[in-house]
Amino acid sequence: MSGLAAKVIAITGASSGIGAASARRLAARGAKLVLGARREARLRSLADEISGVGGDAVCAVTDVRRSQDLTYLVACACETYGRLDVLIGCAGIGPISALDDLRLTDWEDMVDVNLKGFLYGIAAALPVFRRQGFGHFVTVISTAGLRIAPNQAVYAGTKNAVRTICEGLRLEAGAKLRVTSVSPGFVKTDFASSMTDPVMRAATLAKMDDIGIEPDAIARAIAFAIAQPADVDVGDIVVRPTAQA
Ligand SMILES: NC(=O)c1ccc[n+]([C@@H]2O[C@H](COP(=O)([O-])OP(=O)(O)OC[C@H]3O[C@@H](n4cnc5c(N)ncnc54)[C@H](OP(=O)(O)O)[C@@H]3O)[C@@H](O)[C@H]2O)c1
Repeated sequence: MSGLAAKVIAITGASSGIGAASARRLAARGAKLVLGARREARLRSLADEISGVGGDAVCAVTDVRRSQDLTYLVACACETYGRLDVLIGCAGIGPISALDDLRLTDWEDMVDVNLKGFLYGIAAALPVFRRQGFGHFVTVISTAGLRIAPNQAVYAGTKNAVRTICEGLRLEAGAKLRVTSVSPGFVKTDFASSMTDPVMRAATLAKMDDIGIEPDAIARAIAFAIAQPADVDVGDIVVRPTAQA
Protein backbone atom coordinates (compact mmCIF):
# COMPACT_ATOMS: atom_id res chain seq x y z
CA MET A 1 0.00 0.00 0.00
CA SER A 2 1.41 3.43 -0.96
CA GLY A 3 0.50 6.83 0.38
CA LEU A 4 -0.88 7.61 3.80
CA ALA A 5 -4.63 7.04 3.55
CA ALA A 6 -5.76 4.23 5.86
CA LYS A 7 -2.22 3.37 6.97
CA VAL A 8 -2.18 2.14 10.55
CA ILE A 9 0.49 4.04 12.45
CA ALA A 10 1.50 3.67 16.11
CA ILE A 11 3.49 6.54 17.63
CA THR A 12 5.48 6.57 20.85
CA GLY A 13 5.93 10.01 22.40
CA ALA A 14 2.62 11.12 20.88
CA SER A 15 1.59 13.26 23.86
CA SER A 16 3.59 16.33 22.84
CA GLY A 17 6.05 17.95 20.47
CA ILE A 18 7.15 16.09 17.35
CA GLY A 19 5.04 13.00 18.11
CA ALA A 20 1.83 15.02 18.56
CA ALA A 21 2.55 17.11 15.44
CA SER A 22 3.12 13.91 13.46
CA ALA A 23 -0.15 12.46 14.74
CA ARG A 24 -2.07 15.58 13.62
CA ARG A 25 -0.44 15.68 10.18
CA LEU A 26 -0.77 11.94 9.49
CA ALA A 27 -4.38 11.84 10.70
CA ALA A 28 -5.24 14.77 8.45
CA ARG A 29 -3.93 12.69 5.52
CA GLY A 30 -6.15 9.74 6.41
CA ALA A 31 -3.91 7.55 8.58
CA LYS A 32 -5.38 5.60 11.50
CA LEU A 33 -3.39 6.22 14.64
CA VAL A 34 -2.53 4.52 17.89
CA LEU A 35 -1.17 7.17 20.23
CA GLY A 36 1.35 6.04 22.86
CA ALA A 37 2.97 7.93 25.77
CA ARG A 38 2.65 8.01 29.56
CA ARG A 39 0.37 11.05 29.99
CA GLU A 40 -3.04 9.59 29.29
CA ALA A 41 -5.00 12.86 29.57
CA ARG A 42 -2.89 14.45 26.84
CA LEU A 43 -3.26 11.39 24.61
CA ARG A 44 -7.04 11.41 25.10
CA SER A 45 -7.32 15.09 24.35
CA LEU A 46 -5.28 14.62 21.14
CA ALA A 47 -7.38 11.59 20.11
CA ASP A 48 -10.56 13.65 20.71
CA GLU A 49 -9.14 16.55 18.70
CA ILE A 50 -8.33 14.18 15.79
CA SER A 51 -11.73 12.45 15.97
CA GLY A 52 -13.42 15.86 16.18
CA VAL A 53 -12.16 16.74 12.71
CA GLY A 54 -13.08 13.38 11.20
CA GLY A 55 -9.83 11.52 11.88
CA ASP A 56 -9.25 8.14 13.47
CA ALA A 57 -7.14 7.71 16.63
CA VAL A 58 -7.07 5.53 19.74
CA CYS A 59 -4.79 5.75 22.78
CA ALA A 60 -2.55 3.17 24.40
CA VAL A 61 -0.80 4.38 27.54
CA THR A 62 2.84 3.41 26.96
CA ASP A 63 5.99 3.74 29.01
CA VAL A 64 8.77 2.75 26.61
CA ARG A 65 10.91 1.60 29.54
CA ARG A 66 8.56 -1.39 29.80
CA SER A 67 8.81 -3.86 26.92
CA GLN A 68 5.29 -5.13 27.63
CA ASP A 69 3.92 -1.63 27.01
CA LEU A 70 5.36 -1.67 23.50
CA THR A 71 3.86 -5.10 22.95
CA TYR A 72 0.53 -3.65 24.07
CA LEU A 73 0.86 -0.63 21.76
CA VAL A 74 1.46 -2.88 18.75
CA ALA A 75 -1.32 -5.29 19.81
CA CYS A 76 -3.68 -2.33 20.17
CA ALA A 77 -3.04 -1.40 16.51
CA CYS A 78 -3.58 -4.98 15.33
CA GLU A 79 -6.74 -5.49 17.40
CA THR A 80 -8.27 -2.11 16.58
CA TYR A 81 -7.34 -1.79 12.92
CA GLY A 82 -6.25 -5.31 11.88
CA ARG A 83 -2.58 -4.58 11.22
CA LEU A 84 0.35 -2.22 11.87
CA ASP A 85 1.88 -0.42 8.91
CA VAL A 86 4.28 1.91 10.70
CA LEU A 87 5.83 2.26 14.15
CA ILE A 88 7.09 5.79 14.77
CA GLY A 89 9.52 5.96 17.70
CA CYS A 90 9.41 9.52 18.96
CA ALA A 91 9.65 9.03 22.73
CA GLY A 92 12.85 10.57 24.01
CA ILE A 93 14.43 12.54 26.82
CA GLY A 94 17.53 14.72 27.00
CA PRO A 95 18.71 15.48 30.55
CA ILE A 96 22.07 16.72 29.29
CA SER A 97 24.96 17.73 31.55
CA ALA A 98 28.74 17.73 31.78
CA LEU A 99 30.25 14.28 32.28
CA ASP A 100 32.10 15.70 35.33
CA ASP A 101 28.72 16.14 37.04
CA LEU A 102 28.34 12.34 37.18
CA ARG A 103 24.56 12.45 36.91
CA LEU A 104 24.24 8.69 36.78
CA THR A 105 20.48 8.62 37.12
CA ASP A 106 20.13 10.91 34.08
CA TRP A 107 22.54 8.71 32.10
CA GLU A 108 20.55 5.62 33.00
CA ASP A 109 17.26 7.32 32.15
CA MET A 110 18.52 8.28 28.68
CA VAL A 111 19.73 4.73 28.03
CA ASP A 112 16.40 3.34 29.27
CA VAL A 113 14.14 5.66 27.26
CA ASN A 114 16.14 6.56 24.17
CA LEU A 115 17.97 3.28 23.55
CA LYS A 116 16.19 0.46 25.35
CA GLY A 117 12.79 1.97 24.56
CA PHE A 118 13.71 1.91 20.87
CA LEU A 119 14.85 -1.73 21.12
CA TYR A 120 11.60 -2.70 22.84
CA GLY A 121 9.77 -1.17 19.87
CA ILE A 122 11.73 -3.42 17.51
CA ALA A 123 11.00 -6.43 19.71
CA ALA A 124 7.28 -5.66 19.65
CA ALA A 125 6.83 -4.74 15.99
CA LEU A 126 9.38 -6.81 14.06
CA PRO A 127 7.61 -10.18 14.52
CA VAL A 128 4.33 -8.55 13.46
CA PHE A 129 5.94 -6.95 10.41
CA ARG A 130 7.55 -10.28 9.47
CA ARG A 131 4.20 -12.08 9.77
CA GLN A 132 2.41 -9.44 7.73
CA GLY A 133 5.15 -9.25 5.08
CA PHE A 134 5.25 -5.44 5.36
CA GLY A 135 6.05 -2.78 7.92
CA HIS A 136 7.98 0.45 8.43
CA PHE A 137 10.09 1.64 11.37
CA VAL A 138 10.41 5.43 11.56
CA THR A 139 12.66 6.59 14.38
CA VAL A 140 13.40 10.11 15.56
CA ILE A 141 17.11 10.51 16.33
CA SER A 142 18.88 13.91 16.57
CA THR A 143 21.50 16.14 14.98
CA ALA A 144 23.14 15.92 18.43
CA GLY A 145 24.56 12.63 17.16
CA LEU A 146 25.87 14.19 13.94
CA ARG A 147 27.78 17.05 15.54
CA ILE A 148 28.92 16.16 19.04
CA ALA A 149 28.78 19.06 21.49
CA PRO A 150 30.02 19.36 25.08
CA ASN A 151 27.45 18.34 27.71
CA GLN A 152 25.60 16.16 25.21
CA ALA A 153 27.88 13.11 25.18
CA VAL A 154 25.48 10.64 26.75
CA TYR A 155 22.40 11.95 24.93
CA ALA A 156 24.30 11.87 21.61
CA GLY A 157 25.65 8.43 22.50
CA THR A 158 22.15 7.00 22.96
CA LYS A 159 21.01 8.63 19.72
CA ASN A 160 24.00 7.33 17.77
CA ALA A 161 23.47 3.86 19.18
CA VAL A 162 19.94 4.09 17.79
CA ARG A 163 21.34 5.34 14.46
CA THR A 164 23.68 2.33 14.27
CA ILE A 165 20.92 -0.12 15.15
CA CYS A 166 18.61 1.47 12.56
CA GLU A 167 21.22 0.81 9.88
CA GLY A 168 21.67 -2.76 11.08
CA LEU A 169 17.91 -3.18 11.08
CA ARG A 170 17.71 -1.85 7.52
CA LEU A 171 20.38 -4.31 6.39
CA GLU A 172 18.62 -7.24 8.03
CA ALA A 173 15.11 -6.11 7.15
CA GLY A 174 15.05 -7.55 3.64
CA ALA A 175 13.01 -6.34 0.71
CA LYS A 176 9.65 -6.10 2.45
CA LEU A 177 10.32 -3.82 5.40
CA ARG A 178 11.34 -0.18 5.49
CA VAL A 179 13.56 1.64 8.00
CA THR A 180 13.73 5.42 8.22
CA SER A 181 15.53 7.64 10.68
CA VAL A 182 14.82 11.33 11.05
CA SER A 183 17.33 13.59 12.78
CA PRO A 184 15.90 16.93 13.87
CA GLY A 185 17.90 19.97 14.89
CA PHE A 186 16.42 22.51 17.32
CA VAL A 187 12.64 22.17 17.39
CA LYS A 188 10.27 24.16 19.60
CA THR A 189 8.77 21.50 21.88
CA ASP A 190 8.59 20.58 25.57
CA PHE A 191 11.90 18.73 25.22
CA ALA A 192 13.75 20.97 27.70
CA SER A 193 11.32 19.88 30.42
CA SER A 194 13.21 16.56 30.58
CA MET A 195 16.42 18.43 31.48
CA THR A 196 17.28 18.22 35.17
CA ASP A 197 20.17 20.70 35.10
CA PRO A 198 18.58 24.20 35.25
CA VAL A 199 21.51 25.81 33.40
CA MET A 200 21.22 23.34 30.50
CA ARG A 201 17.44 23.73 30.49
CA ALA A 202 17.63 27.54 30.32
CA ALA A 203 20.27 27.47 27.57
CA THR A 204 18.22 24.99 25.52
CA LEU A 205 15.02 27.00 25.92
CA ALA A 206 16.85 30.15 24.83
CA LYS A 207 18.21 28.38 21.74
CA MET A 208 14.79 26.96 20.89
CA ASP A 209 13.27 30.44 21.20
CA ASP A 210 16.02 31.89 19.07
CA ILE A 211 16.26 29.45 16.15
CA GLY A 212 13.90 26.51 16.82
CA ILE A 213 11.59 25.38 14.02
CA GLU A 214 8.04 24.14 14.49
CA PRO A 215 7.49 20.42 15.18
CA ASP A 216 5.37 20.16 12.03
CA ALA A 217 8.60 20.55 10.02
CA ILE A 218 9.63 17.14 11.33
CA ALA A 219 6.12 15.76 10.90
CA ARG A 220 6.24 16.71 7.20
CA ALA A 221 9.51 14.77 6.76
CA ILE A 222 8.00 11.74 8.51
CA ALA A 223 4.88 11.94 6.32
CA PHE A 224 7.09 12.15 3.20
CA ALA A 225 8.97 8.96 4.13
CA ILE A 226 5.80 7.02 4.91
CA ALA A 227 3.97 8.18 1.78
CA GLN A 228 6.58 6.73 -0.61
CA PRO A 229 5.69 3.60 -2.61
CA ALA A 230 6.27 0.33 -0.75
CA ASP A 231 9.50 -0.41 -2.65
CA VAL A 232 11.04 2.96 -1.78
CA ASP A 233 12.99 3.14 1.46
CA VAL A 234 13.81 6.64 2.65
CA GLY A 235 16.83 6.08 4.89
CA ASP A 236 18.12 9.12 6.78
CA ILE A 237 16.55 12.55 6.84
CA VAL A 238 18.12 15.54 8.60
CA VAL A 239 15.84 18.52 9.24
CA ARG A 240 17.36 21.48 11.06
CA PRO A 241 16.82 25.23 11.27
CA THR A 242 18.67 27.12 8.53
CA ALA A 243 20.27 29.11 11.36
CA GLN A 244 21.68 26.02 13.10
CA ALA A 245 25.45 25.57 12.81
N1 LIG B 1 13.04 19.28 20.31
C1 LIG B 1 14.24 19.16 19.79
O1 LIG B 1 14.95 20.17 19.58
C2 LIG B 1 14.75 17.81 19.36
C3 LIG B 1 15.91 17.76 18.57
C4 LIG B 1 16.39 16.54 18.15
C5 LIG B 1 15.75 15.38 18.51
N2 LIG B 1 14.62 15.43 19.28
C6 LIG B 1 13.98 14.16 19.61
O2 LIG B 1 12.61 14.24 19.26
C7 LIG B 1 11.89 13.29 20.03
C8 LIG B 1 10.61 13.95 20.54
O3 LIG B 1 10.96 14.99 21.43
P1 LIG B 1 10.20 16.41 21.41
O4 LIG B 1 11.18 17.43 20.99
O5 LIG B 1 8.92 16.30 20.69
O6 LIG B 1 10.02 16.63 22.98
P2 LIG B 1 8.73 16.49 23.92
O7 LIG B 1 7.71 17.50 23.50
O8 LIG B 1 9.28 16.56 25.31
O9 LIG B 1 8.19 15.04 23.63
C9 LIG B 1 8.79 13.90 24.17
C10 LIG B 1 7.79 12.77 24.12
O10 LIG B 1 8.44 11.60 24.64
C11 LIG B 1 7.55 10.98 25.53
N3 LIG B 1 8.25 10.19 26.54
C12 LIG B 1 9.23 10.57 27.38
N4 LIG B 1 9.56 9.54 28.19
C13 LIG B 1 8.74 8.51 27.84
C14 LIG B 1 8.58 7.18 28.31
N5 LIG B 1 9.32 6.69 29.32
N6 LIG B 1 7.65 6.40 27.73
C15 LIG B 1 6.90 6.88 26.73
N7 LIG B 1 7.00 8.11 26.22
C16 LIG B 1 7.92 8.92 26.79
C17 LIG B 1 6.76 12.13 26.17
O11 LIG B 1 5.49 11.65 26.62
P3 LIG B 1 5.07 11.36 28.15
O12 LIG B 1 5.88 12.30 29.01
O13 LIG B 1 3.60 11.64 28.16
O14 LIG B 1 5.39 9.91 28.36
C18 LIG B 1 6.56 13.04 24.97
O15 LIG B 1 5.42 12.67 24.25
C19 LIG B 1 12.84 12.81 21.13
O16 LIG B 1 13.28 11.51 20.81
C20 LIG B 1 13.99 13.80 21.08
O17 LIG B 1 15.19 13.20 21.48
C21 LIG B 1 14.11 16.62 19.71
